[in-house]
Amino acid sequence: MSTAITNISSLVTNDPSLGEGPLGLIQDAAVVVDGDRIAWVGTTSKAPATDNAVDAGGRAVLPGYVDSHSHLVFAGDRTAEFNARMSGRSYTAGGIRTTVAATRAATDEELEANLRRHLHEALRQGTTTVETKSGYGLTTDDEARALRIAAAHTDEVTYLGAHVVAPEFADDPAGYVALVTGEMLDACAPHARWVDVFCERGAFDGDQARTILTAGQRHGLVPRVHANQLGHGPGVQLAVELGAASADHCTHLTDADVDALANSSTVATLLPGAEFSTRAPWPDARRLLDAGATVALSTDCNPGSSYTSSMSFCIALAVRDMGMTPDEAVWSATAGGAAALRRTDVGRLTPGARADLQLLDAPSHVHLAYRPGVPLVREVWRGGVREV
Ligand code: NIG
Ligand code: FE
Repeated sequence: MSTAITNISSLVTNDPSLGEGPLGLIQDAAVVVDGDRIAWVGTTSKAPATDNAVDAGGRAVLPGYVDSHSHLVFAGDRTAEFNARMSGRSYTAGGIRTTVAATRAATDEELEANLRRHLHEALRQGTTTVETKSGYGLTTDDEARALRIAAAHTDEVTYLGAHVVAPEFADDPAGYVALVTGEMLDACAPHARWVDVFCERGAFDGDQARTILTAGQRHGLVPRVHANQLGHGPGVQLAVELGAASADHCTHLTDADVDALANSSTVATLLPGAEFSTRAPWPDARRLLDAGATVALSTDCNPGSSYTSSMSFCIALAVRDMGMTPDEAVWSATAGGAAALRRTDVGRLTPGARADLQLLDAPSHVHLAYRPGVPLVREVWRGGVREV
């Protein structure tokens, strides 16, 4: 059954061959959805005949957001830690252990209910594809169950046994790396597509990160790396060297890091919710874009460093504080996220792509940055079905 969505004031296709500029913008547009796919896009006056028609009422349409970095299998919250930070304490990786304790103590049902709640919260705000990670279990059983629970809700599942050294291994980090690359990896790899490591002072150094990522590769997982979030370090260079899909955070970069990203297929994923919630300096998106790197924007939604599921909020921050134009930020939150997940079927509204889209109560996508904090998402369609 085909449905035409007509009378769209401004349509973001993310295909420059279909419309104006890098966003492939079409004015007075229509989109034809057939089953779970986009069948046609163009101007309303040229729309083909369809079984149904929906009038968008002069609103803007863009692809559903692709949030390529989140940590949604967890229990508990860290309100007290956030409060302390806002009175001057600084963020460290140590807080992760609070969530590890709460997550281990939770039942499968509690973890799944929490994941569902956050995925629904994201969907209501226009997000139709979500990557999510383990990393709050840190035992073989707890990591494997986190991935099993995640895999029931998304194809984009990342093994992050190497989030921090488990408390039981505080005096034996090498023993923990052996676990993460041995028994835990064997149990987790079947449930995951990606392998990630928090490569940072206080978590894992460059040598440990290389060991963990290459072990994951031998099990068929593709690397992505938490890199250069809290300070300069080897994470970005390692991500590029191993052909990682993305280097995430990229807050503290040398010129050599920027060059490496610009000359690679590794996407620089920026997570401004983390800088917002930790009062850290903003990543310099302008510098990366000017050098020629591919930039994605994501939420990093997690209870510690970035407890937001709002991609629109990240767009507004990126435009206000990271030197992005509204067009660039919208591209990075949709097509950029898709690139970071090596997907060509999402993050764009082109014939053959998944019919994952959002209708805004606004005449154009620019309003996402122009009207920060305003809930502009009016409808969300996923796989051709209106879900919001
Ligand atoms: O991406 N940096 C490491 N991991 C998360 C934070 C996790 C936490 O604080 O619970 C991040 O910011
Ligand atoms: Fe993260």
